[in-house]
Amino acid sequence: MAVGAAFADVAVILVDVSNGIQVQTRRHTRICAFMGIKHVILVVNKMDLVDYDKHIFAEITREFKMLCSEFDFISVYTLPASATVGDNITTASSNTPWYTGSSLLEYLETIQIADMHGQDGFLMPVQRICRPDRNFRGIQGEIALGKIAVGDEIVILPAGESSRVAQILVTDSKQSSAAAGQPVTICLEDEVDVSRGCVLAKNYQPETANLFSATIIWTDNDKLVAGRSYQLKCGTSLLPAKILKVKYKIDINDGKHLEAEFIHKNEIAVVDIILPSKIVFDVFSHCKSIGGFILIDRITHMTSACGIIEHGLRRSSNVFWQETEINREFRSSQKGQTPFTLWFTGLSGSGKSTLANALEVRLVSMNKHTMILDGDNVRQGLNNDLGFTETERVENIRRIAEVSKLMNDAGLIVLTAFISPYRQDRDNSRTIIGQDYIEVYVSTSLEECEKRDVKGLYRKARNNEIPNFTGISSAYEEPKNPDIVIDTEQFSVEQSVDMILTYLQQSGYNL
Ligand code: ADX
Repeated sequence: MAVGAAFADVAVILVDVSNGIQVQTRRHTRICAFMGIKHVILVVNKMDLVDYDKHIFAEITREFKMLCSEFDFISVYTLPASATVGDNITTASSNTPWYTGSSLLEYLETIQIADMHGQDGFLMPVQRICRPDRNFRGIQGEIALGKIAVGDEIVILPAGESSRVAQILVTDSKQSSAAAGQPVTICLEDEVDVSRGCVLAKNYQPETANLFSATIIWTDNDKLVAGRSYQLKCGTSLLPAKILKVKYKIDINDGKHLEAEFIHKNEIAVVDIILPSKIVFDVFSHCKSIGGFILIDRITHMTSACGIIEHGLRRSSNVFWQETEINREFRSSQKGQTPFTLWFTGLSGSGKSTLANALEVRLVSMNKHTMILDGDNVRQGLNNDLGFTETERVENIRRIAEVSKLMNDAGLIVLTAFISPYRQDRDNSRTIIGQDYIEVYVSTSLEECEKRDVKGLYRKARNNEIPNFTGISSAYEEPKNPDIVIDTEQFSVEQSVDMILTYLQQSGYNL
């Protein structure tokens, strides 16, 4: 429904006259407004079942107009109909003499869909660069707004370089100009830097940012948890994106802003999103093709949400990446080692810390430079503001992944010992840390961990003295493809350390 609405100019909303305005009607009307539709038609169907009672129709109309007064629709039209009988669908019906308006078809044929924006501006998201030989370089895409002609000066965003249009091709034929909706190949006079995801513009200034506020409709069966990463597709750009925070969710019925930690399927929310680099975007009502986006689950490739960008957040344009003279390679070679992060995951009491400790002793005896990050310790310092809710654990693991990456950049071998119960967060750690992330699943069973109960926490959790305790009242998602699995019920600490070292050597780490 939301994706369909993103491409539509007019919405026809259907209600059953016997039921009137339903929650679903409110939801759909809100989604239409949210997706930039300016014209809505309410078809009050099955009028034959209420003997074409004009009072019932008038009451539904009144209620619908009240609902619509919250949004800035240009036109709101309501009509009584009976689809099975054909009343007021293609022609005016004699069953509703009190109704003097148009039939649905007549109305749809006469409604004015004004193209309000981009009359003299031009905008085209770049889909691909076509370079069949050394003499030809065409920029391909579909014109999203306005017109372009040979000789026009255009700007390439986000970089801001400019050039002139030397040639326009529509399919294989040269044209002097082209307009919105046409797929074109544009050749420029200069060899400027252009790639997929850039935008060509003339007399039109979209925004650029890597941090923005957006309204989204969550469509995933799994709930949205702030801190998680997705792929974002906007225009022709596809890049990793992280939902930084949920600002609030919107009540479907009355539009109220509600505080929320999670967003569930079909809920609408306002969130902050961060990207690794800038994209070109605009307000959705100005330009649908670079004003809307979808979020894609990185593992299932399903659409998790669709959304519209509200506005860029200023701090994004004031922060720059500072290059340093001394880099990771230099720092690593100074220490005579290749840095990596061994990420131990498993239940509390599974043996993560014990194994990481024993392995560190072994690595140090081999003259390696190492650092251990351990859940219980880090939670007393850097992460002492975080508890054990899902959102807080997401943030705990994100920070540890970032710190591990910094330590790898410093040339250190890092060993982390965190429960890290959620698969998505471990995958996110892999993304942050990169190819030198090695996942070690300490697979000790819950029964065994509970039997050991070194810290006495399982007993407390069973007595309901610790909320959200992993394995008891909070989930642990087993790794699907860990790099190493260690079963501490089967192998001794030293045997396990040997297994990890063997894996590292076989994977090409020079130890
Ligand atoms: S994680 O889930 O966010 O990765 P982390 O590894 O940092 O957890 O911390 C786990 C340690 O915190 C456990 O070993 C245990 O000592 C302690 N702890 C306290 N409360 C909980 C809880 N509710 N669930 C799990 N561990 C807890």
